[in-house]
Amino acid sequence: MSSTDSRPELAAGLTFPPGFFFGAATAAYQIEGAVDVDGRGPSIWDTFSHTPGRTFQGHTGDVAVEHYTRYPEDVALMKELGLSAYRFSVSWPRVLPEGAGRVEQRGLDFYRRLVDELLEQGIDPWLTLYHWDLPQALQDRGGWTSRDTSARFADYAGIVHDALGDRVRHWSTLNEPMVSALLGHQSGAHAPGVRDAVSASRAVHHLLLGHGLAAGVLRERGVDHLGITLNFTPMSPASDRPEDVDAARRLDGQQNRMFLVPLVTGAYPEDVVADLAAAGAPLPVEDGDLEVIGAPLDWLGVNYYFEETVRAGARPEGMPPTSFIGGEDVVELDPEGVTTTMGWGVSPEAFTRLLCWIGEQAPGLPLVITENGSAWEDEVSADGAVHDAQRVDFLLRHLAALRTAMADGVDVRGYFAWSLLDNYEWARGYAQRFGLVHVDYETQRRTVKDSGRVYADVIRHHRER
Ligand code: FCB
Repeated sequence: MSSTDSRPELAAGLTFPPGFFFGAATAAYQIEGAVDVDGRGPSIWDTFSHTPGRTFQGHTGDVAVEHYTRYPEDVALMKELGLSAYRFSVSWPRVLPEGAGRVEQRGLDFYRRLVDELLEQGIDPWLTLYHWDLPQALQDRGGWTSRDTSARFADYAGIVHDALGDRVRHWSTLNEPMVSALLGHQSGAHAPGVRDAVSASRAVHHLLLGHGLAAGVLRERGVDHLGITLNFTPMSPASDRPEDVDAARRLDGQQNRMFLVPLVTGAYPEDVVADLAAAGAPLPVEDGDLEVIGAPLDWLGVNYYFEETVRAGARPEGMPPTSFIGGEDVVELDPEGVTTTMGWGVSPEAFTRLLCWIGEQAPGLPLVITENGSAWEDEVSADGAVHDAQRVDFLLRHLAALRTAMADGVDVRGYFAWSLLDNYEWARGYAQRFGLVHVDYETQRRTVKDSGRVYADVIRHHRER
């Protein structure tokens, strides 16, 4: 693979400690397709995406990038890029079509085949149990607003471990519980599309409880490399006016601290507890829950995309509903400078600061970057390549920012790019391309983008050092 690196000095200067690893990430519903194959049951994302008006142009994950059948080709691409790890998620409704009870062996067999293929190519599987695709049958019984779902999640964790525990070492419970809880139940921008503060705070706590219960089940089975992935968005006030400072405190509370702090200290932050209670949506904590939630982790997954600046004030007409409980009086400002096609700003400096902050909050806990990436207007050029210079720039600047945090003493063990492939970007459908590999959705043809080649160069330099 030849280098097309537009920033050779940056790529060459990117030296990481020996043992640091590079991978790429995906999620089941975003890539697999094959939604009615091998006994899979429906998930909340099937229901949501098939509900008119919920997703961009009604896009669904029905076909996605056909990873369910094309996985050997996709693993070969990982090998070509030189990845040493692959982060993927298991679809709960493939394994338990009704959410609980009857186990579908054909669903488990798919993940066995995938993992075996990875291991054969020398790629380390990092398995996430839940990346947002709750079985619809459980949603029909209250979903994450119901405490019972936490227990069902722990059962599911045990079932997946019984099938794959002999070949998968790295286990993660949840991907981004903040998004499942708050976009799913407060803004309603994601499945199950609920807009209700009480439901949202119940979902927050039951997701974290589900994590803790599942972690217990995995520990009993001997898992010794257990983590969870959180998404962090640094929040700054637009001014030093007390109202703006307080708006940033509240959003930071729900976005970042409400998830990180109980996991590492066994207690919710007091100000967040008070904010939620004041909004009439208290966290439904029962005796003993926080000890379960705060059980030790082996690593913390960090997803970082952008930072936000906020101010107090009424949300202008036409602004989407807030994702934050009681956040109706907070406005997120438009980012300055270049924005990705998601409308997100680009701020590698905030990535460095974030990692230093997490390092202080969670001393002694190794971090893994489980997602970082960007969406741009990609096109296959006449020469057959995809010259995604902006993604190359984003990738190299974020790797450099990560390296700076590590030089400052933050313990980061690896980096997963989001994403291996262009895929179904949830409510934004196929319009947003995050892949290192381009996918032509008509033909399912995969083309490694320039960013994929540059990433491969970075990895090769790292290996050869
Ligand atoms: C994260 C999700 C991932 C993907 C990226 C762009 O919030 O975990 O599935 O959609 O955003």
